[in-house]
Amino acid sequence: MLFKRKDESNIELMEELIPQHIAFIMDGNGRWAKKKGMPRTYGHHEGTKNIRTLALEANRLGIKAMTVYAFSTENFKRPQSEVDFIFKLPKEFFKIYLKDFLENNIQVRYIGHIEQAPKSTRDVILDSVEQTKNNTGLILCFAFIYGAQDEILCAVKDIVKDVKEGAISEDEISEELFESYLMSADLPPLDYMIRTSGECRLSNFMLWQMAYAEMYFSDVYWPDFDVEELYKALDHYQKCDRRYGGLK
Ligand code: IPE
Ligand code: IPE
Ligand code: MG
Repeated sequence: MLFKRKDESNIELMEELIPQHIAFIMDGNGRWAKKKGMPRTYGHHEGTKNIRTLALEANRLGIKAMTVYAFSTENFKRPQSEVDFIFKLPKEFFKIYLKDFLENNIQVRYIGHIEQAPKSTRDVILDSVEQTKNNTGLILCFAFIYGAQDEILCAVKDIVKDVKEGAISEDEISEELFESYLMSADLPPLDYMIRTSGECRLSNFMLWQMAYAEMYFSDVYWPDFDVEELYKALDHYQKCDRRYGGLK
């Protein structure tokens, strides 16, 4: 089956080459707002709408999981007023869009230290996870107060603890076992990472999971990264020759 765009891009996507798990580094909200003469917070606010738009399309395309980097462990370095604003966004976001996720069989999840967020923020995320837990369509996973180095260190500490307590033996430690200790353990393997806004770096995002992911860096700022841009990115993905170190 083909998914076709009806615009001038004429992009056709092949169902059998749709990635299972895509991830977005949603970057450029602040610059997008500045360009419009607006405060950075306006960019964050408008950027959230795009999560819903792209999640609905990803679900329609049969993508199994979409992880969005919403707040990094390093983003605490920003002014408190901006951090506070971002922490208020989940409440408004789920108030408006949770019904769309329920209607479209989308399951909400998160990775990261949401326990470090204010209780009201935490509660709304946990409630959305709970309400959508039986949905079987797209997994929409929020990386919130997430950092990959922290994730890896937490896994190491948990493994050391389990070895000490005799729950596992040192010999059992394998790549598979290590992955099962990561926050992303229940997500499909990451196929494709898309970063918006022109920056070509990973900013502490899913470092372990990215080992063999394809990558796409777009100059478009996150709030402007629409369905057409998603199709362009997926078109690029479908042309990648994934060799995993072998030969084809
Ligand atoms: C991404 O946009 C959102 C978060 C990091 C929370 P930015 O806020 O980083 O926007 P720019 O990169 O400064 O334009
Ligand atoms: C990465 O963007 C984090 C998120 C998108 C949540 P940043 O804007 O924080 O990354 P740097 O500072 O440009 O590396
Ligand atoms: Mg940025």
